[in-house]
Amino acid sequence: MAYVDDATINAIRRRHPIKEIVERYVTLTKKGNDYWGLCPFHPDNNASMSVSTKLDMFQCFACHKAGNIFNFIADMENISYGEAINLLAKEDGYYVSGLTKKQNPHAKDYEIMSLAGKFYQNNLNSALGNNAIKYLEERQIDRDTIKKFEIGLATDKQALTPFLLNKYDLNDLIELGLSNDNSSDIFNNRIMIPIHDLNGNPIGFGGRIYQTRDSSKYVNTKATRIFDKSKILYNYHRAHNKLNKDNSIIIMEGYFDVIRASTVGVNNCVAPMGTSLTKKHIQILKKITNNIILCFDGDKAGRDATVRALELLEDESVNVGIIRLEEKDPDEFIIKRGKEEFLKKINNPLSVIEFKMNLLKEDKNLNDTKEVSNYLDEIIRELVKEKDSFMVTLTLKKLERRFDVDYKILEDRYNKYKKSNKKDSLSNNLKVNNTKKKLLNKYGQATNNLLYYMTVSPHEIIDYAEKHVIMIMDSKKRRLFNELIYYYHKYGTIIIADLISYLNTKTDVYDVFNEIINMNLKKEYTKEEIDDYIKCVNDYYKINKTDKLKLELNTETDPMKQAKILMEIMKIRGVNNND
Ligand code: CTP
Ligand code: MN
Repeated sequence: MAYVDDATINAIRRRHPIKEIVERYVTLTKKGNDYWGLCPFHPDNNASMSVSTKLDMFQCFACHKAGNIFNFIADMENISYGEAINLLAKEDGYYVSGLTKKQNPHAKDYEIMSLAGKFYQNNLNSALGNNAIKYLEERQIDRDTIKKFEIGLATDKQALTPFLLNKYDLNDLIELGLSNDNSSDIFNNRIMIPIHDLNGNPIGFGGRIYQTRDSSKYVNTKATRIFDKSKILYNYHRAHNKLNKDNSIIIMEGYFDVIRASTVGVNNCVAPMGTSLTKKHIQILKKITNNIILCFDGDKAGRDATVRALELLEDESVNVGIIRLEEKDPDEFIIKRGKEEFLKKINNPLSVIEFKMNLLKEDKNLNDTKEVSNYLDEIIRELVKEKDSFMVTLTLKKLERRFDVDYKILEDRYNKYKKSNKKDSLSNNLKVNNTKKKLLNKYGQATNNLLYYMTVSPHEIIDYAEKHVIMIMDSKKRRLFNELIYYYHKYGTIIIADLISYLNTKTDVYDVFNEIINMNLKKEYTKEEIDDYIKCVNDYYKINKTDKLKLELNTETDPMKQAKILMEIMKIRGVNNND
């Protein structure tokens, strides 16, 4: 990207107040100092997006999208940040050259992965692929499906690496998880299923054995600079615009479940790859729909995975449907029972409470009065979590009919638990907060808070932090820390909406920055709080550094060197005592 100076971009930004830009797409209402409207970036019926004319920023409190006018236009129009700048520049009668296409920093990586995928596909179509094709035919995967899912074959001929070496460096191939240090191929004798990121860029492979049974059934690409399993779902890039009439997405367990479902016209399926579902996965899906259907394997493992997923989904505002299958997995269900049976299943998913009722029933003898009583009690405890009041009434009615217990009695019990649950919910909320905090551990949180206040109160904090922070361990956050200091010294202030333009091309740093401006911390802070954050950041550094030195000490045999390491540890500990 040609260099366009920040001043030009900032000038364009100042000519277009954020409120005017957002109002081109969304109706806004004034509440307090800010304007509010329906967020266009996720299904919203609460007016979750705020627009601050003071900060010249928008921010959605539900899906956490935030940014300046250029981010808003880029996302609305599906264009790059640079193109958004140009669009507004043009309106003003300017053209800023060099901003048109954002060159993705990983463009070459995608090119390599795409080429590898084509290579594998060619193998499958050649004579080398006869046995693999036979395997796929036996699994009833036809040519169209092979083509649609770009399925290929890795042979044992060690041919991929030499082929790619004609054009690319071995280092890149190793980094991307295609080749070993000695120039051999990572994948051998496996059917290759390409995996794409959310935007459809090829980033990895799932490789399945098909001739032997003696090694791991699947080998997936290792974590690389472009492949992070926790942040993607298999088939998302195809499924996200194929939601069915009730606008839902179906989560399955395996590659072949998703592939099989598409052969009967069910194209809205995704799969986490061999890992359990994470909050991140749910965030991804929540941006496109509020309706999530879980369709895991029919066995006990699949049932347990469903229970775990439900726990994760409990405090998300999404509608959850559950499908339980009377076969091993969706793949087998469809093969054995056919399209119609499967469609019947997915068109009538169980509600959460129905699923739980079945689950609670499993280990009970419902001819035994005592067990029935326990059962009813357990269901009512679960029912307290149900947000839909119709669902509550309907369930209580169902229990009344089924077990011949007076509705009033059931309702009283429900009300009793509901009341004590309100009391509990406070401690429950605390629990949730605690686990969240544990995730973003104490040090991470302190670093984030520090970076936040450096951004919003630069005059007070930046120089102080620069002077007192020894080292930030997380490399992305460290880069942001340095960028904030650099930016502040260059411009004498930080205007967040302009800083966004500055950081926009620095993808890694930008992600962290986005997370930080989304934190919505209180505006006021005390010097003690800032000191605490800095101490925490420094302690973390010291702990890490001393741990590393201790390890070195353990393996060091030279007494002179041992003494030197000890001195260093003491020195770090000393710094500890001074603050
Ligand atoms: N998986 C994996 N590594 C393994 C086993 C499984 O990555 N060793 C992932 C794959 O994404 C797989 C999913 O977990 O698709 C579900 O695993 P499993 O149910 O064991 O496999 P199936 O999808 O049933 O595979 P197949 O139908 O090919 O036997
Ligand atoms: Mn299977």
